[in-house]
Amino acid sequence: MAKAMSFLIILFLLALAPLCLCLKTYGGYLYPQFYDHSCPKAQEIVKSVVAKAVAREPRMAASLLRLHFHDCFVKGCDASLLLDSSGSIISEKMSLPNRNSARGFEVLDEIKSALEKECPATVSCADILALAARDSTVLTGGPTWEVPLGRRDSRGASLSGSNNNIPAPNSKFQTILTKFKLQGLDIVDLVALSGSHTIGNSRCASFRQRLYNQTGNGLPDLTLEQSYAAHLRTRCPRSGEDQNLFFLDFVSPTKFDNFYFKDLLAYEGLLSSDQILLTQNAQSMELVKQYAENNELFFQQFAKSMIKMGNISPLTDTRGEIRKNCRKINTY
Ligand code: HEM
Ligand SMILES: *[C@@H]1O[C@H](CO)[C@@H](O)[C@H](O)[C@H]1NC(C)=O
Repeated sequence: MAKAMSFLIILFLLALAPLCLCLKTYGGYLYPQFYDHSCPKAQEIVKSVVAKAVAREPRMAASLLRLHFHDCFVKGCDASLLLDSSGSIISEKMSLPNRNSARGFEVLDEIKSALEKECPATVSCADILALAARDSTVLTGGPTWEVPLGRRDSRGASLSGSNNNIPAPNSKFQTILTKFKLQGLDIVDLVALSGSHTIGNSRCASFRQRLYNQTGNGLPDLTLEQSYAAHLRTRCPRSGEDQNLFFLDFVSPTKFDNFYFKDLLAYEGLLSSDQILLTQNAQSMELVKQYAENNELFFQQFAKSMIKMGNISPLTDTRGEIRKNCRKINTY
């Protein structure tokens, strides 16, 4: 009898074992099937709203891709970027990298409200950002990848994190690489992800220094092709016109391709942070050349690096929350 009992207990424990293993395996991790049962239409809904927004305005693909980056580099990919100021929250939207620059927040609102109708309180704003970044890449002709999901949303923001962690366009190579390494990203990720600048725009204010007084000696940046620089000066004067917009990749500004890297080889990168990938480090120079030569290699690495960036310290399981409105933390 006792023997039969212990046999049954062992059998029972064995039956539970896979469950324990399973919880261990998935706890804290993201996986693409996260919403397959709880919200099977989630990915389709995100894609259709993004497609509509990009059809209205092609630049929106670039703006949405950038939001995922600016989210992930501050407290991890937790949609902290999307919070407006209120109560004790000081919005990251006011930081130096974001102010008068980060955009696309209304599209996030539109996606969120469509998802709340379909499956309330289920899909996080952080996952929406990751999916919208992938869809934006695909819609403009770039590579696709399966997006690991299951991120939850923060209940706070970090203005100082936003100011400190996101590299500036006039930063030195080592400073930029260090900021990537602090996020667990390496030089390969830095070069591949900078390839995002194959789409989208920059304001005059973000690269003016290169046109007039790069190192404080009154001379322009000599690693900027001279006639291209002269052309840029016509709409980016010494002072004023800060908000004038310029294509980051003037050859194919709305197409996700490797022309960004070809531009760098011609010394026609727009930002200083772009051009120094060619001029300041032997390893990144080699990568720029490879990606300029081989679009397929760039696409493969870009997809890998986007997944890596999307895995930066997510909130999972019971940490964080699923915001009802991406701009506000939930009230209970
Ligand atoms: C390597 C360091 C980086 C620096 C210094 C940098 C800096 C900038 C700057 C200054 C702009 C123009 C902003 C403006 O003038 O309003 C910009 C635009 C953009 N950035 Fe970056 N960036 C970096 C990396 C990245 C990464 C990793 C991604 C995405 C994975 C990204 C995606 C974009 C996109 C798509 C735009 C165009 C946005 C639009 O048109 O709305 N950037 N970046
Ligand atoms: C260039 O910048 C330096 C240092 O900021 C400044 O002292 C100098 O006056 C500037 N020169 C010109 C021509 O603007």
